[in-house]
Amino acid sequence: MAGIKLIHHVNVQISDRDRTREWYENVLGAEFLDRGAINQRQLQLRIGTGEMHFTVTPEAASTGHFAVEVDDWDGMLLNLDNLGVPYSRSPGSVDAPLRTPEDNQYQGRREDNGEHYTYIHDPDGNMIELVYHPLGLTDSAGNPVALADNTKRLRWKQKDYVARIP
Ligand SMILES: [Fe+2]
Repeated sequence: MAGIKLIHHVNVQISDRDRTREWYENVLGAEFLDRGAINQRQLQLRIGTGEMHFTVTPEAASTGHFAVEVDDWDGMLLNLDNLGVPYSRSPGSVDAPLRTPEDNQYQGRREDNGEHYTYIHDPDGNMIELVYHPLGLTDSAGNPVALADNTKRLRWKQKDYVARIP
């Protein structure tokens, strides 16, 4: 059976393209992807090794949430502090129980794999879960598996293309 290699992109509705681009660049280190004519229809950004696509919508409906893996947990929280971006371990419930000794109102740890997590919101209220797995990634046999590199200017290979509708 055919499978999936990775999630290529997630599309999120927004109300202001420039504000969204600036926020994702500053907060998550996103990179603008210049897609030529497509730029008029969507804002497309690379975040890590994946893509986020944003569509300006008059009544932007916020997502449930999506999660991104952070490469430097303490560095990310410091950046959030410096930018004044609030983050919370339990945005839906301030009374969520503390489950590990490291849990506090700002961040938590999953009991099973030590995953660090917290939640932020983009300017349109889309909730983003930030996660960090200190134990890394393994295959079913327990062998370490490296993630794809987050190399600047990473892009899917392009081909010459002539639009049918100019
Ligand atoms: Fe989640």
